[in-house]
Amino acid sequence: MAKKAQATWGGRFSKGPADLMLAFSESVSFDKRLAPYDIQVNKAHTAMLHHVGLLAKKELREIHRGLDELAQRVERGKVQWKSEYEDVHMNIEQELTKITPAAAKMHTARSRNDQVATDVRLFFKDACQQTLARLNALLGVLLDLADRNRFVYIPGYTHLQRAQPVSVAHHLLAYVEMFGRDVNRFERVLDDANWCPLGSGAIAGTTLPIDRAFTAQALGFVDKRGRPRITPNSMDSVADRDLFLDFAHACSMVATHFSRLAEDVILWNSSEFGYVELPDAFCTGSSLMPQKKNPDSLELLRGKSGRIVGNQQSLFVMVKGLPLTYNRDLQEDKVQAFDSFDQTILCLEVLAGTLEGMEFRIDRCSEAVSDPGLLATDLADYLVDRGVAFRDAHHVVGALVALAEKLDCPLNEVPDRDAKKLHPKMGADWREVFDLQRAMKAREGIGMPGPKQLAKQLARWRKALGG
Ligand code: ARG
Repeated sequence: MAKKAQATWGGRFSKGPADLMLAFSESVSFDKRLAPYDIQVNKAHTAMLHHVGLLAKKELREIHRGLDELAQRVERGKVQWKSEYEDVHMNIEQELTKITPAAAKMHTARSRNDQVATDVRLFFKDACQQTLARLNALLGVLLDLADRNRFVYIPGYTHLQRAQPVSVAHHLLAYVEMFGRDVNRFERVLDDANWCPLGSGAIAGTTLPIDRAFTAQALGFVDKRGRPRITPNSMDSVADRDLFLDFAHACSMVATHFSRLAEDVILWNSSEFGYVELPDAFCTGSSLMPQKKNPDSLELLRGKSGRIVGNQQSLFVMVKGLPLTYNRDLQEDKVQAFDSFDQTILCLEVLAGTLEGMEFRIDRCSEAVSDPGLLATDLADYLVDRGVAFRDAHHVVGALVALAEKLDCPLNEVPDRDAKKLHPKMGADWREVFDLQRAMKAREGIGMPGPKQLAKQLARWRKALGG
């Protein structure tokens, strides 16, 4: 038999790789976290090999015993990962070889190309489930915060200019909608992950009589009725990285939502706004200025969103020019996917923690929302109600705003005779428009911030979250 230059693929080589090449090409330093999935795939694959008669019962037993032992060692951190074996797959195979000679048959009828594609699908299923659990927890925190502050009003902003009054709950429910869409997105990625590529081989399957349905079923790649879900094209199966891109995109999207919420809260927390008090546990101080309490958790959420969006970009750039099918470039895909996952989980926990301890400063909120200018649009609606065309009504109220500025008084304190001079439809009751409670109660259409509508939306979300 030929002398082995490399334990697994060395047959056609007379010399092993240079040390520099080993260091360059290894991935075990980061793909070792796939080990539990790899072992699961190995078990299912060898069970199938036995099922179709390619592996004896005794060999299967030995392999499974060895893999169980390795799984325990992986869990206890007792495996010495070696970069000369390149990746997690070959490390596990080599470790198993030390336990049983039957390990030499494990790679029958497969390639690392379909193997890694299967491992990562199991990883993504797990990753989506973990992300979904954290997302649901965050939604619960947001709903509680919204509920506690249903009757606290703040100015809503457009162009970062005070626009119209809204309940804090309405503002927070906007984020609940965003995170709710994120839930749907991760659920879709989870569903897309649920297809088994094992059996696609390196590119063109195998001449051996494998049973793809067997492995798909053994690994839980099944539909709701338990039928196996098997990828239908072997070339696509080993070249496809859509799932990485979809997962990275779902992470980018949720991170963008973190970032926008973080920015809102950073503003609310500034002395200029003063709407909220953040929990000490998620703030840090300044090494120089003793008075500072900085909203670092929120700034980091904003910052990490850049990193997460960047991961998605890296993956797209990596994949877009690759010819079919597998190319070694793809080994790098895990770095970004793992990082997006880890950072998204961290962000979800930190955001929930920060919001859980956040209090609204009711005095500052009501002071900010008391500006009658915020209800200028309601006055235009008042005129429309009395038959004035909206464009004219808009003009009239604009003139009233200018007059208030000239008189240096609040909008609702312009003298009656001046107001009436602007339009005959300005009735004796025009000032009643500037009652905040009344203004909110007038907004009970679907999606609006009226108190009944908010109660409905809160109840809808509570129900959706199962509480
Ligand atoms: N470590 C490799 C990766 O993650 C496994 C696949 C290697 N395949 C190969 N033909 N060299 O992409």
